[in-house]
Amino acid sequence: MLKARIAVMVSGGGTNLQALLDAQAAGKLPSGEIVLVLASNSKAYALERAKKAGIPGFAVSKKELGSQEAFEEGLSKLLEEYRIDLIILAGFLSILSESFTAKWPRRILNIHPSLIPSFCGQGMYGLKVHEAALKKGVKVTGATVHFVNEIPDGGEILLQKAVEILPGDTAEVLQRRVMEQAEWLLLPQAAEMVSADIVKERE
Ligand code: GRF
Repeated sequence: MLKARIAVMVSGGGTNLQALLDAQAAGKLPSGEIVLVLASNSKAYALERAKKAGIPGFAVSKKELGSQEAFEEGLSKLLEEYRIDLIILAGFLSILSESFTAKWPRRILNIHPSLIPSFCGQGMYGLKVHEAALKKGVKVTGATVHFVNEIPDGGEILLQKAVEILPGDTAEVLQRRVMEQAEWLLLPQAAEMVSADIVKERE
């Protein structure tokens, strides 16, 4: 097989998607290609980023589809249609059930904006993660890329990168630093690592 076919699942601004697209354009994702973007809501700016990059993007909304099963069925149909080998959750905020994740063992990656096992699990996402780190007074935080299983932020850890917390940091300033210095570096790196494994397996 030439390259691993990657779907990126998003919910918000899509800066992690953009980091993957930029890495691909810079030749840093030789073993994979991003062929599909799925957003959990039609307003996600990440869909604009996909459009600009000429990549098919679809909104699959649990609210509109009315149930977790219908939501996951909608996702699976598109993942099948685009013959996806690897799913990357990049700021994706919807829950995926065990029956969904069990179909993709070691083939779903997630980026979490802390050094798991700190500041993770149910309800810990976005700014809340950085607010918790500041509240706890930790001096170092960072980001983690892990495989996704049925436990929120519970899968095997693949990559981590530490980021310093500075005096006077607000949650917004810290979030930006963690994105720039950790998330946007780790996710493309992990995507290439797993894509290379997939390609090797298929040879
Ligand atoms: C960020 O907090 C990031 O840490 C997490 O999702 C949020 C939005 O990411 N993964 P993005 O800009 O939509 O990629």
